[in-house]
Amino acid sequence: MSRTTLPPGGDGASISGATDWPALQARATEVMRRAYAPYSRYPVGAAGLVDDGRVVAGCNVENAGYGVTLCAECGMVSELVATGGGRLEAVVCVDGAGAVVMPCGRCRQLLWEHGGSRCELLTPEGVMTMAQVLPQAFGAEDLGRRRDILDL
Ligand code: THU
Repeated sequence: MSRTTLPPGGDGASISGATDWPALQARATEVMRRAYAPYSRYPVGAAGLVDDGRVVAGCNVENAGYGVTLCAECGMVSELVATGGGRLEAVVCVDGAGAVVMPCGRCRQLLWEHGGSRCELLTPEGVMTMAQVLPQAFGAEDLGRRRDILDL
């Protein structure tokens, strides 16, 4: 199967065909409503499908010290690790209207760490891989760490 970008609002199938994208977006939208975003008034929700079938999610949590703000993806990754780890296979982020938004640069790095190059992301232009949205990423291999040792 080719790894080309699917059209926006496509048939809901992932590149691998295993992800229920509408359900993942619905979970991201649900958790977005829990966001603590009194400063930006820009709530965000993120949901991820883990390789063991779990779904993890998070919302943004802002702070009076603006730079301390936690993006929604931070919460999602924290839930991933705190509930047993594993690899992210598919991720969706949404804004306050439930529309798909792209993760910020920092959070793409988080997704790279816990999902790797083949993790899929629903974008406004359809499903893309992390390799497509974070080309030439810096990762564990650059530190001389082998993925099998890291159990990635
Ligand atoms: N935000 C996220 O939660 N994730 C992103 O990938 C982009 C930005 C949040 C941070 C801040 O609370 C608000 O959106 C506005 O930047």
